Amino acid sequence: MQTSDEYQKTAAIYDLLFSGALKPIRHNIKTFLRHSKAKAVLDLCCGTGEQLRILDGNDMLLTGVDLSQAMLARARQVSPESIHYLEADASNLPLPDSEYDGIIICLALHEKPTRQHEAIFKEACRLVKPEGHIVIADYSIPPPGFKSIVPGKILIPIIERLAGLNHYTSYKYWIKHGGIRGFLEREHSGKVTLIAPHFKGCINIVTLSNIKKK
Ligand SMILES: C[S@@+](CC[C@H](N)C(=O)[O-])C[C@H]1O[C@@H](n2cnc3c(N)ncnc32)[C@H](O)[C@@H]1O
Repeated sequence: MQTSDEYQKTAAIYDLLFSGALKPIRHNIKTFLRHSKAKAVLDLCCGTGEQLRILDGNDMLLTGVDLSQAMLARARQVSPESIHYLEADASNLPLPDSEYDGIIICLALHEKPTRQHEAIFKEACRLVKPEGHIVIADYSIPPPGFKSIVPGKILIPIIERLAGLNHYTSYKYWIKHGGIRGFLEREHSGKVTLIAPHFKGCINIVTLSNIKKK
């Protein structure tokens, strides 16, 4: 669990820095959740809530959870009242089992130590309805070839290093152990569908159904 608010300094500029680059990912997540007719949607580690704002207006009940007061303050400031936010640890949530049609975990697992991202995923498995979906967007091992060098070997590592030594250490461990693919092989035995590769395959969006935590 975070001991201090690691996002205190970045909360005010997070959207300014990343909104443009992340928009295609957010829109692909929206398209998937609309097509799957999700009603109750939970965004774990929602940050400034931009994903939820992009989903707003699609007849969904939207809830975001985050541990950072600064990120949540920003989220509440710029979101409509229809979006609910909860300050809580995503690895131990005061929410009932099997409540959500869709659970999003976007760019949040790689930056945490293994025990923590396993616990967050376990919570997602508990909270999702049996016929629901978990949508994860996170880093993959950069595919071979020139195209992935700039995003995968230069930009993303620089961003993660700037985010702090803890983030960088967890990110390097995440990639060393197979990125999102390695994580799913270790943690999940249900159906996995690749929705879209982004940043030349260095970030992938996957959806999980028939959820089975290993
Ligand atoms: C890189 S940001 C991603 C934010 C958002 N998902 C997005 O797509 O922009 C990671 C977020 O995870 C939050 N976080 C870290 N550990 C958490 C935990 N245990 N429970 C809830 N939120 C957590 C941080 O406060 C931060 O807002």
